[in-house]
Amino acid sequence: MKKSLKNWQGVTAIIGVDWGDSGKGRIIDDLAQNADVAARFNGGANTGHTIENNFGKFALHIVPSGIFNKKTICLVGRGVACDLESLIDDEFKQLKKAGVSWRNLIIDPSATLTMPWHKLKDGLRENTRRQKIGTTGRGVGPAYADRVERVGLQVGDLYKNDFSKLLKEEIDFQNKYFALELSYQKILTQFQNYAKVTKPLIGRTIPIMQKAIQKGQNILFEGAQGWLLDVDAGTYPFVTSSNTGIIGIWKSFDLHPKKINNIIGITKAYTTRVGAGPIPTKIEGRERQLIIEKGHEIGTTSGRTRDPGWLDLVLLKAAAEVNGVNQLALTKLDIFSGFKKIKICVGYTIGDKKVDYLSGNADFLSKCKPVYMELDGWKKDISKIRKFTLLPKAAQNYIRTIEKITNVPITFIGVGPKREEVIYV
Ligand code: IMP
Repeated sequence: MKKSLKNWQGVTAIIGVDWGDSGKGRIIDDLAQNADVAARFNGGANTGHTIENNFGKFALHIVPSGIFNKKTICLVGRGVACDLESLIDDEFKQLKKAGVSWRNLIIDPSATLTMPWHKLKDGLRENTRRQKIGTTGRGVGPAYADRVERVGLQVGDLYKNDFSKLLKEEIDFQNKYFALELSYQKILTQFQNYAKVTKPLIGRTIPIMQKAIQKGQNILFEGAQGWLLDVDAGTYPFVTSSNTGIIGIWKSFDLHPKKINNIIGITKAYTTRVGAGPIPTKIEGRERQLIIEKGHEIGTTSGRTRDPGWLDLVLLKAAAEVNGVNQLALTKLDIFSGFKKIKICVGYTIGDKKVDYLSGNADFLSKCKPVYMELDGWKKDISKIRKFTLLPKAAQNYIRTIEKITNVPITFIGVGPKREEVIYV
């Protein structure tokens, strides 16, 4: 018998095989019940994991979604752009209100700090761009740029004796050369407070990870964003600034992909994109409105409306292949209930020529016209269904068609927003 994802074991990674916003928080919250360790490896407060569980509804940005399981050690790896303002002033407040402890959280001292000037510069750059990227404004790009330039402050710097000096030097530089008007005293006080709150939570995450692997514990990596926003392989420049795929785990935790047993690619039953950049299967008209309303396609972080599109199997297949995805999780299938016809993209043409996918190229993708396969929809509300074979035949056919074309089995089907509204196949 095929082992259900519900009883997963070993090392599992969940990565978006789309442009993000695929409902990762919720599957991770579910799978974290089984996890000894849950780890974030990329992104910063630009990501927003919405979670609805027995404790309430949460929008988390930095905190791993495994936080709700007291026994799960939650790691924020060195590859995360660590935004303490989001973590402490927003996320810890949400958790505190719901009586959820974050004592099981460990933050790597080598993670780059997202500082106030990163957020300012993110906004300034975006406002002056002729061709806007539509960043979330969370300072993630400038924070990663500082890391690569080797000038970024890291979480561990907060506890150094000369932190105030390091901060002053950086603020003086920003004010002098970028004409910012940052207040050293204000930022110092703010970050001294953050340092107090986070002090018990700082720890080297790589040895923790290595020990967990040696012990054969269950480890869950939770990706942020999706493969199509990867800084290298995505539709540059309309991408985020980190590695959103499996390589992000390697970079953050010194862990070779061979050691990952289970790579789950997650996507919605349709696709969405927020911010700028091409989306070949973009849906217009009444169906667009329906998806936005039924699917609540408004960004958790940015509050912006997401553009919906039909599922694009050209992109999905490429994302799955590159990342070694061995199973797919499909969320929000329920949003399609009531649709007469559902399209899926199975190829591209440019002019009258069939073309293969070319990664990392926004210009190419913006020229591609989708070739669609049209499938029948279904009327029935599917949110109460927990068994694949009880789904309407048309919904089963939709799933089977995706599996056949991508050659990857779908093992998790989201049929509603709540934890239990899932079909484990
Ligand atoms: P940044 O990551 O804030 O720099 O934004 C760069 C691009 O990535 C923009 O198009 C954002 O809308 C998009 N983006 C960043 N984080 C997310 C996410 O978590 N979900 C969906 N899109 C995202």
